[in-house]
Amino acid sequence: MALALALLGFLLCNTFLPSSASSDSFLQCLSSMMPSQLVYQQSSSSFISVLESSVQNPKFITNTTVRPLCIITASDVSHVQAAVRCGRWNGVRLRVRSGGHDYEGLSYRSVQPEVFAVLDLAKLIGVHLNPGEGSAWVDAGSTLGELYYTVGTTNPGFLFPAGACATVGVSGFISGGGIGLMMRKYGVGGDNVLDVKIVNANGNVLDRDAMGEDLFWAIRGGGGESFGVVVAWRLKLSKVPPIVTVVNILKTMEQGVADLLAKWETTILSPSLIPDLTIRVVLQERHAFFQTLFLGRCSDLLNTVRNVFPELGMTAADCNEMNWLRAMAFIYFGNTNTPVEALLNRTKNVGNHYFKSKSDYVRRAVGKAGWESLYQQWLSQNGNGQMILEPHGAMVGGANTNTTSPYPHRRGVLFNIQYGSNWCCDANGTMAAAALGWLKGLYGFMEPFVTSNPREAFANYRDLELGQNVVGRDGVSSYWNGRVWAEKYFMGNYRRLAAVKAMVDPSDYFRNEQSIPPLPKS
Ligand SMILES: Cc1cc2nc3c(=O)[nH]c(=O)nc-3n(C[C@H](O)[C@H](O)[C@H](O)COP(=O)(O)OP(=O)(O)OC[C@H]3O[C@@H](n4cnc5c(N)ncnc54)[C@H](O)[C@@H]3O)c2cc1C
Ligand SMILES: *[C@@H]1O[C@H](CO)[C@@H](O)[C@H](O)[C@H]1NC(C)=O
Ligand SMILES: *[C@@H]1O[C@H](CO)[C@@H](O)[C@H](O)[C@H]1NC(C)=O
Ligand SMILES: *[C@@H]1O[C@H](CO)[C@@H](O)[C@H](O)[C@H]1NC(C)=O
Ligand SMILES: *[C@@H]1O[C@H](CO)[C@@H](O)[C@H](O)[C@H]1NC(C)=O
Repeated sequence: MALALALLGFLLCNTFLPSSASSDSFLQCLSSMMPSQLVYQQSSSSFISVLESSVQNPKFITNTTVRPLCIITASDVSHVQAAVRCGRWNGVRLRVRSGGHDYEGLSYRSVQPEVFAVLDLAKLIGVHLNPGEGSAWVDAGSTLGELYYTVGTTNPGFLFPAGACATVGVSGFISGGGIGLMMRKYGVGGDNVLDVKIVNANGNVLDRDAMGEDLFWAIRGGGGESFGVVVAWRLKLSKVPPIVTVVNILKTMEQGVADLLAKWETTILSPSLIPDLTIRVVLQERHAFFQTLFLGRCSDLLNTVRNVFPELGMTAADCNEMNWLRAMAFIYFGNTNTPVEALLNRTKNVGNHYFKSKSDYVRRAVGKAGWESLYQQWLSQNGNGQMILEPHGAMVGGANTNTTSPYPHRRGVLFNIQYGSNWCCDANGTMAAAALGWLKGLYGFMEPFVTSNPREAFANYRDLELGQNVVGRDGVSSYWNGRVWAEKYFMGNYRRLAAVKAMVDPSDYFRNEQSIPPLPKS
């Protein structure tokens, strides 16, 4: 039965070619299945503002960006089902958007000209939990800020371990693994999912029991878009003490950043360091910004840091003690006076923040000489570039988490690097060329210090320069071509992800330039 259905789907999808006729019947199909005021066509006066509502990189708001046929602003799971069914029947693909932070804009644009619709989940929001409960159901369009706020205000004593940026969507974050300041202790985002509701390629809603453990594994870090549309996550919350401590310390080249980083990468990243302590570092121009989160009081933090990393010179005066929710606001806004309610603000001033990012993983200490030349030759030469070093500490997730989700960069990884280059204000002109040239040079310089074969990269820091899917004559993305980029993101887990894809979406309906291709039958 399952095989017959899959075959039928395969035939259906391949008989429809995207043409204006199928676009019309797609729109008609939608209007018969959901309220038409939730569908914005290009002719609508609100089309552009809805399209751009959560775009986080103005680089992709240009006249040459390939735009959707329409934007479906689902406010109910049935609208998601309608979008998938109408899309499937009429050969119109979907780009699913939650927080809109995708670094290559793949949640709202297509690189190749094609007919597609944006399925926007910004109205499908809500965090549902009861006080004292160690879990929460989170609707897929919610942001990390909304999750933090609801957990922190209605369920104090608990946290969800995720990233620093409050406007990032919970769904994109978890779909790519999801790293953050608490992952040494609690694992990545994908490790903290207990259940999920997904709309599959047939438009049916499945929970964990109905989907089985293979698909449940894949959607917790195997990349967004590939397997279906997640409509809700049941997340595991973890205990947090009433007071945590946040410390920001800025050091300059003159104060010996190279020495400090050489010390940091050997002591603060040791697997024997207590998992309650994380010190991440942001490198920019002539500075290193040491950002500490400690799940405990200042006095205990100082005992540890003075012992293993006295060179940092941390004192009681540097400590900011507060509850976990306030700490999340402090880390995001950089000050203690912004109210925690601001974590709910979805509007971001992206106006002139054009950027490009790349990523790496480091498994062997870079060493003082390496850090020194990095500052001299690259960082100090460009005030608009930065590197964020996210500690993994040779272990991700202590004994108390389930580390079976697909995020592969764990054992032996010292830290992740995110390179960023910002500029203003052209999408493809001389300023863009200078910023991108600097980034390319820096990425080349770092090669001897980072992993190789594959040169590991983080799926959530999407980078199309690593490679893109090639669609074969059968209309399906090539598994073999996909290895070029996917083994960097998923390493040995790529094959298993592709096997899951072949099982749940063999005709490759859910796809983008870097979605998981189906594993061919050998
Ligand atoms: C300022 C900033 C800070 C960041 N900090 C961190 C960090 O600390 N840690 C970290 O891990 N990452 C971080 N990221 C990266 C971020 O996690 C990814 O960009 C993530 O994909 C964004 O999720 P989103 O929902 O906002 O994005 P979207 O652009 O909406 O989606 C991203 C991808 O997921 C797919 N997708 C979205 N929703 C669904 C769904 N419901 N079902 C299926 N597929 C879906 C989209 O189609 C797209 O392919 C940061 C990004 C930015 C811009
Ligand atoms: C892009 O479109 C806007 C508005 O339609 C127009 O004013 C502008 O000149 C266009 N830019 C280019 C480069 O075509
Ligand atoms: C939300 O953030 C934007 C951008 O930073 C800001 O302009 C706006 O005032 C904020 N809104 C609220 C209600 O705080
Ligand atoms: C981890 O997850 C796997 C697969 O989902 C499950 O079989 C196992 O029991 C879980 N282990 C723990 C410790 O929760
Ligand atoms: C940028 O401009 C170059 C040269 O004009 C062109 O070849 C390239 O396709 C453009 N890229 C984008 C993303 O528009």
